[in-house]
Order: sequence, then C-alpha cells, then structure tokens
Amino acid sequence: MKKRLIFTHPLPLTIDHEMSQLFDIETIPFEQLVKQDMIEAHGLISILSDDLSATNLKKFPKLEVIAQYAVGFNNIDLLECQKRGITVCHTPDVLTQATADLAFAMLTSLARKIPEAQKAARDGQWRGWSASDYLGKNLEGAQLGIIGLGEIGSAMAKLCQQSYAMDIFYHNTKPTPKAQALGAKYLSLEELCSTCDIISLHTPLTTKTKHLIGAKELSLMKPDAILINTARGQVIDQKALCESLKQEKFFGVGLDVTTPEPLAADHELYQYSKVLITPHIGSAQQQTRENMAWLCWRNAQEVLENREAITAVKDFS
Ligand code: GLV
Ligand code: GLV
Repeated sequence: MKKRLIFTHPLPLTIDHEMSQLFDIETIPFEQLVKQDMIEAHGLISILSDDLSATNLKKFPKLEVIAQYAVGFNNIDLLECQKRGITVCHTPDVLTQATADLAFAMLTSLARKIPEAQKAARDGQWRGWSASDYLGKNLEGAQLGIIGLGEIGSAMAKLCQQSYAMDIFYHNTKPTPKAQALGAKYLSLEELCSTCDIISLHTPLTTKTKHLIGAKELSLMKPDAILINTARGQVIDQKALCESLKQEKFFGVGLDVTTPEPLAADHELYQYSKVLITPHIGSAQQQTRENMAWLCWRNAQEVLENREAITAVKDFS
C-alpha cells in the first residue's frame, strides 16, 4: 500500500510519474478535507491558512509529516505534533531574499510617497509639476531598527546597509551572533522604538510576540518614522496602530500582513494613503514559490520514507 500525501492547495510543482509511483498524491482544499471526521493521510502539504489545531489534527490519525509551504508555522499546534510524533517542516532560506526584497520595496516606496502620489494621479489630483509636492524622506545614513534579526531581518538589513549606509540596530529576545557580520547593535525594544527612523518587523508570531508592538511602543516611535511589517499581522496591536494613524503619526506604514487576512476592503487602514497594504505577498516570486514547493515535497518524501527531514521545525518553545 502506498502512503497518501495530500496537498491542501495547488502548488507550482509538477507531479511526475516517478513521484506518483511513490505515494498516492492528491490535492484537496483544507476546508473540504476537515469536513470529514477521519482523513486517511500520512503526509500533508499545508499552507498558512490551514487550521492545524489539536482538534483538527485528531482527524488525521495516521499523519507522519506536515510540510508547511511557508517559513512561519503559527497555524500548527506544534506541541500536539510533538506528542503525536508528527514531523513538522517549513521552508526557511528559500524565501529569505524575496521577503526581504518586499520589505525593502515597501520602504523605498513609502520614503518616496509612491502610494500617495499614485493615488493622487489616479484620482485626478495631478495638477502640474510642483517643487513641493510628495517630498520624500532621505534614507541615506538613516537608523534602521530590525525587530527579529533572523535570516529575513538580516537580508533586509543588508539591503539597507548596501544601498543607504544605514546604521543597523536590532531587538531580539536575546542578542544574536548574526548581528556581528552586520555591525548591528542590540537595543531594548523601547530604545529601538524611540531611536530608529525605520522599524521593520521580522519576528515569527508566538505567544511572546503577539502585540509586541502595542500602544506604548507605537507612542515611543518618532512621529515621522516608517514602520514595516512583513512578518505577521498580530505582532502589531492593529487597533493601537489605527489610533496612532488618526493622530497623524508616521511618515509611512507598510503592511504585507494584517489582522485578519484578508483585510476587509472597507477597513479603516485603507483610508490612509501613507499606509501601503499588500495581500501577504512576501514570498510571492515565481522561482521562490517553485523552490518552496520542491522543498515541501522533498521534506514530505524524506519523512514518509523514514529518513530525516531536510528542514524540520526544531524550536518547540
Ligand atoms: C509567509 O508568511 C511565510 O511564513 O512563509
Ligand atoms: C525566518 O524565520 C527568519 O529566519 O527570518
């Protein structure tokens, strides 16, 4: 009997003859899958929106591996997986540059007021050339604060250092050796919020990072700071962010992630043209997505054939 591997979403991966000789492979949307009481699956290739809580995991009594098509895995109950001996894998590294590129693109767009300028042009507000409209913010030598200096945070810091010779500061739960290569200086969260011109979030979502950026942290930020979130919506207390925006705080805010996702089209955050919102596209680059799909497949294959996963999630804290 071949083992059964279910994809919960169509991915950019061609299932060839050789692959289908190894396992029974099927694509079934997660919502449809969990309508059943019991699901015969040894492997699951999941996406971020799949609710892999303990309750739903009970429906997969034979599950050996979850290969998540993302670097983040906050939708998966890791402790339950650990108890059950289910290996959880994710896709680090392959999406690092694409995600950092998006954070950097958001930064340069906001610094040059591109979202506001585009909106004005589209809305018939382009009245002629002006020496004083849409004046941007100088990024040269700015102070960059990275919250969550991991792979993606480091790649963002490098882009900012190489392009604009920025000074790099960071905050993590504890200082990281990654900082040395960048010459990044460690600051407490409060210090980082109050000193930096640009703050970019790169932490995973955990119980410790939920609402890490709340009313207090937002109030410490400079009135003309640029804030960028390509990590997880819930790292920011979004209500508090809306309050700060009402008080005309921030030069620009870039959000690739929100609470909830999708963010309803009538949400107040869309009122502000200095808020650039994209629909969670950090890793959305052709080659990146193909590499992620291949890595998921390889992880699932290794575990289902009783070998070590390539990129298993090891941090169960
Ligand atoms: C996307 O958000 C990811 O975690 O890969
Ligand atoms: C992602 O988890 C990273 O290492 O930045």
